[in-house]
Amino acid sequence: MSDVPAVGILTVSDRASRGDYEDRGGPAIRAYLQEALSGPWRAVAAIVSDDRDVVEAELTRLADEEGCCLIVTTGGTGPAPRDITPEATEAVCDRMLPGFGEAMRAESLRHVPTAILSRQTAGHRGSCLILNLPGKPAAIRECLDAVWGGIPYCVDLIGGPRLESEGAFRPGA
Ligand code: MTE
Repeated sequence: MSDVPAVGILTVSDRASRGDYEDRGGPAIRAYLQEALSGPWRAVAAIVSDDRDVVEAELTRLADEEGCCLIVTTGGTGPAPRDITPEATEAVCDRMLPGFGEAMRAESLRHVPTAILSRQTAGHRGSCLILNLPGKPAAIRECLDAVWGGIPYCVDLIGGPRLESEGAFRPGA
């Protein structure tokens, strides 16, 4: 583990984890973070199946062993039987931060009516903020744009490292 802030990028998808198709969500999150973060950081990327125990174990590993201060997931937030990312997120979090999901759905509804189907949420596990995004690559920028301003200050408040970003809003700064 190094002192550079680590950010987990977790793709939750049965098909991407089997190699049936190329993961496009994970790289889209990485590209967004490369633009948004102006200071040093390192990405820890993983692809897992839509199995709740597997997702919980990977979120726990990224937070506790890799020392991530932020984990962004993509996929598994809908109402289909295999969609369990929000449940896995809630299971590993100390407290939920429902404002993130509310803001992302509100913005997404301006783009697509099916945004209402996403149960995406956020919470923190110790000093790691976990944020769910839908699986559609197009959703990634729409959702992150809606909440990015609050993310670095949230990481400050939960005791994580200072994330440098021009798009960050820090009250009183
Ligand atoms: N949000 C945005 N911004 N753009 C989208 O295309 N797709 C929706 C919704 N949220 C979408 C979106 C659809 S069709 C579904 S089923 C849900 O996210 C859940 O997607 P997931 O199961 O891949 O996470």
